[in-house]
Amino acid sequence: MSMSKKPTDFRYNTGPSTVPWAAVGESYTADDIMDVVSFLLQGESAAYQSALDSVKTAVKQLATLGTPPGKLSLGERVVRLEQEIDRYLGVEDSTFITNATAGFEIAFRHANLQKGDEVLIPAITFIATMAYPLAVGATVVFVDVDPVTLNMDPKDMERKITKRTKMVVPVHIGGYPVDMDPVMELARKHDILVLEDAAHAFGGTYKGRMLGTIGDFGAFSFHEVKNVTSYGEGGVLVSTMQPHPDLKKARFLGLDIGTKIENWLYDVVALEGKHGLYVGNNSSSTELQAVGLLSQMHRYDRILQERYRNVCYVNERLAGCDAVTGQPLGCEGTNPTYHLYLLQVDPAKAGADVRVLRAKLAQKGVTTIPHFAPMYRFSIMRQLGYDVDAAARSCPVAEEVFLHRFTHLPIYGLTREQLDYMANAILESIDEMQRGV
Ligand SMILES: Cc1ncc(COP(=O)(O)O)c(C=O)c1O
Repeated sequence: MSMSKKPTDFRYNTGPSTVPWAAVGESYTADDIMDVVSFLLQGESAAYQSALDSVKTAVKQLATLGTPPGKLSLGERVVRLEQEIDRYLGVEDSTFITNATAGFEIAFRHANLQKGDEVLIPAITFIATMAYPLAVGATVVFVDVDPVTLNMDPKDMERKITKRTKMVVPVHIGGYPVDMDPVMELARKHDILVLEDAAHAFGGTYKGRMLGTIGDFGAFSFHEVKNVTSYGEGGVLVSTMQPHPDLKKARFLGLDIGTKIENWLYDVVALEGKHGLYVGNNSSSTELQAVGLLSQMHRYDRILQERYRNVCYVNERLAGCDAVTGQPLGCEGTNPTYHLYLLQVDPAKAGADVRVLRAKLAQKGVTTIPHFAPMYRFSIMRQLGYDVDAAARSCPVAEEVFLHRFTHLPIYGLTREQLDYMANAILESIDEMQRGV
């Protein structure tokens, strides 16, 4: 079987030669490809085995006719994906990276974040939002959340700004847009860099602008549980800053392949941060991941519409019950991505709080997603010496909604019967709670 690679990698592009560049690495065999196919589509039955055998025969034949891609990392597919994302978001230079966390890191490095700096983080998010600030010894300051959307409350943000505040990270939690106007206004007034954690928010809008493109930086996640995925992991970083940070170089260790140094193929540069130079890291992504995300992006409008339809349906089903509030919808120009369905319960009217509701839903076979807790509750904060009780006292809304009021529910890929089952289970559970049974 001949599966020689095409010479497309700039480092090894030596033209036709008797000893080919591709000799530096192992290539793919038909068996390797079949391992991927049988991983992506799994089955046990005899019919499955027979279909798999015919695919194997076809792939073996394909392998005698085709050649593996010249590049597996940062090649043409990554470029094509970035071009499509640029068009979709209306930005230039979107950069495909390993995951959103890696994108955050580039933004934090750009801010030259270090010990002594403060970063404003909403109390309710995922650890990824603040992992880098903690890693470099910057101080995380928790901002309380809005009781309806669970997003960062700009009024509390204002209270928590100090002279040492260097960055703020609004998180569009569940894909619901943060009220960005006051966030941006405060940030500009106090010279604070804004990084949008748009992990859940790809394709959402705020007052007609794409989420992730309003702050100085925005990073999206394409992890396997997001609205669309690049085979399990993936992220995109964008920046609106002028001068524009060189995200492509920041993604790959500052390699400058446009410039050669004497007797060598490329140069390596330190990157220009806001307050000085910094050294790049490696968060390069693969061609295969780009292929995966491109395919899913091509059906993303449909995916978003289905999410919206399902949210509206469940909201309608719950409308008559004043003990629960369904997912907040968007309004003119402001469109959530409906990544998760946010359900809130009013304990006074329901007769018990969300912990009871969640237990009842679990008994009825309805999954809730208890994923987003106030960040100061995790052991890591105590271990790092934070006064977590003071943090909790400074975020009373986060405490109240987390302990008593909210949960997330899945909303996508469900049949009408499943949506009805979920809505009925919620209504029955509330009825039981009100009757004290
Ligand atoms: C709010 C939030 N921010 C950031 C991330 C991190 O995204 P990634 O897994 O792509 O690094 C996640 C992932 O679930 C998230 O939920």
